[in-house]
Amino acid sequence: MPDDSIRVQAAGDRTLLRFLTCGSVDDGKSTLIGRLLFNANFIMGDQLEALKAESRRFGTTGDDIDFSLLLDGLEDERQQRITIDVAYRYFSTPRRSFIVADSPGHEQYTRNMATGASTADVAVLLVDARKGVLAQTRRHSLICSLFGIRHIVLAINKLDLVGFDQAVFDKIAADYVAFSAELGFATLDMIPLSARHGDNITERSAQTPWYQGPSLLECLENIDLSEPVDEQPFRFPVQWVNRPSGEFRGFSGTVVAGSVAPGDPVLVMGSARSSRVKEIVTFDGPRARAAAGDAVTLTLTDEIDVSRGDLLVSPQAPAEFADQFAAHLVWMKDETLVPGRSYWLKIGTRTLSATVTAIKHRIDVDSGAHVAARTLAINEIGFCNIATSVPLAFDPYRKSRDTGGFILIDRLTQETAAAGVIDFALRRATNIHWQDITVSPKERADLKGHEAAVLWFTGLSGAGKSTIANKLEQKLLGIGCHTMLLDGDNVRHALNRDLGFTDTDRVENIRRVGEVAKLMGDAGLIAICAFISPFIADRQMAREIAAPHSFIEVFIDTPIAECIRRDPKGLYAKAQAGDIPNFTGIDSAYEPPENPEIRLETADHDPEALADQLIAELRRRAILA
Ligand code: ADX
Repeated sequence: MPDDSIRVQAAGDRTLLRFLTCGSVDDGKSTLIGRLLFNANFIMGDQLEALKAESRRFGTTGDDIDFSLLLDGLEDERQQRITIDVAYRYFSTPRRSFIVADSPGHEQYTRNMATGASTADVAVLLVDARKGVLAQTRRHSLICSLFGIRHIVLAINKLDLVGFDQAVFDKIAADYVAFSAELGFATLDMIPLSARHGDNITERSAQTPWYQGPSLLECLENIDLSEPVDEQPFRFPVQWVNRPSGEFRGFSGTVVAGSVAPGDPVLVMGSARSSRVKEIVTFDGPRARAAAGDAVTLTLTDEIDVSRGDLLVSPQAPAEFADQFAAHLVWMKDETLVPGRSYWLKIGTRTLSATVTAIKHRIDVDSGAHVAARTLAINEIGFCNIATSVPLAFDPYRKSRDTGGFILIDRLTQETAAAGVIDFALRRATNIHWQDITVSPKERADLKGHEAAVLWFTGLSGAGKSTIANKLEQKLLGIGCHTMLLDGDNVRHALNRDLGFTDTDRVENIRRVGEVAKLMGDAGLIAICAFISPFIADRQMAREIAAPHSFIEVFIDTPIAECIRRDPKGLYAKAQAGDIPNFTGIDSAYEPPENPEIRLETADHDPEALADQLIAELRRRAILA
């Protein structure tokens, strides 16, 4: 999530301050930034003339300059290219340089805020003096705290609209102090402002004689960021292995924490491999030391195995290494989080598959209370357990933002589903090992005279999955094949009798069956699985679990009207009467496969013929000789 180009300039430079502005759409964020740039003389003469002209034409401020128009080009960009999450602008004063991350204020853009927050030192939170501290203000504060922002400036804006009344300011300030006490910010400054009229932006305003504090710009120039950042242990996520010739082998990336010098020992996290730094190579020649923010190539004294995505660390202070951890998540998708479903987890230079195994609680943004939750909706924040497919090197986020922050990505749409911060490892991965088994799946399959495979039947209840699966198994048996039929209803009587029909339980149902089918494949069998398996993501998960066996998705395509007409178990009638909640096709969704290996229409074909079609397909794929 953090933007590398920005970190490179920022790292180690304590005269640079990165800040994030947050507030609701109407709080005056654009005007505030526009005004800050204007009052600090960052608007050039010709830009000013253009701004005056535009203000006359489009402005909402009468004859005054409409400073929000300065940022409008940006808004256009946002409307056209939704990929722009956070926009950065740069300015500097004699005292300090600034990078402002501006994220759109709509509630659905919480994710952008999280992105901005993960790289910022300070958050400027806008509050409309007429409205006071809102749920949005609290949510933003919580996200800032979660993503490691240590300094808050509460910009209480539009004070002109309440007659610069000190009582209004005091009340909002007191509310915010009470609310934020537990969020652990290092500093909190509160400033009465009118962005539109320029009060207390760069100079103390005569309108607020009762306010003794600094203007916004003075405040930003003076916030003390000198917390110890340089004492962190060395962390270097390998971006790529640089091997231009046989003689040279270097590891390129950006130092995200600590520093390193030639001769220092380094360890590849998750392995016992260690070595020493031989040289620090850069475009401008060798270096004596590389520190956080430096993009370099390291060569090592030994030929050890290092790949892209590995984390090089200082052996005196290694990172954590685990396949389960507890983390806070900000959920960012319209569809709710389904525990058990598989997502891509991207951390540093590494991407791997992960599932949220449990939601421990949700955080109520208004009260800060921990409330029980089965799922997370968009913009909700939860404390969760996460399991990754393979162990992962990381640090708790509070120790290192770069090695402790991650995002979850939807595997189908590639959208960011969540931003997260790791709190602690749950179980070290080093206590369970893979045992070598001497007989291989291939040897087991060879003995049977056909290949192992997983045939995955999906379709509505009553579509004909079990009927066709049965016919197929009989036919395969007839030609000497070794098979096993796993059927939804049956498996739910035994292995999965603890599961119901919520989305979460269905995911777990399919996960377990996927694992069993994989084992059947390892045994050399043709595993026939007949499950509604209504969700694309979960069928994809089963496919990945069952790899490396051939996975053949068989879509039993029967229109819902026909299933309701057949209603072999009388379940549709009950569901329609409201007696079975979450019934697929009635009040729970069925997502048809987009590209199944085979689609069988049952309406005008008998099960016998459809089973023959499947046998032909197995021959075509050389699963049967
Ligand atoms: S899945 O969605 O998790 O794949 P599965 O195939 O195991 O479902 O089980 C489906 C069978 O459970 C149906 O054929 C039906 O007999 C029964 N059933 C009971 N309640 C439901 C429900 N709410 N939705 C779908 N099937 C149900």
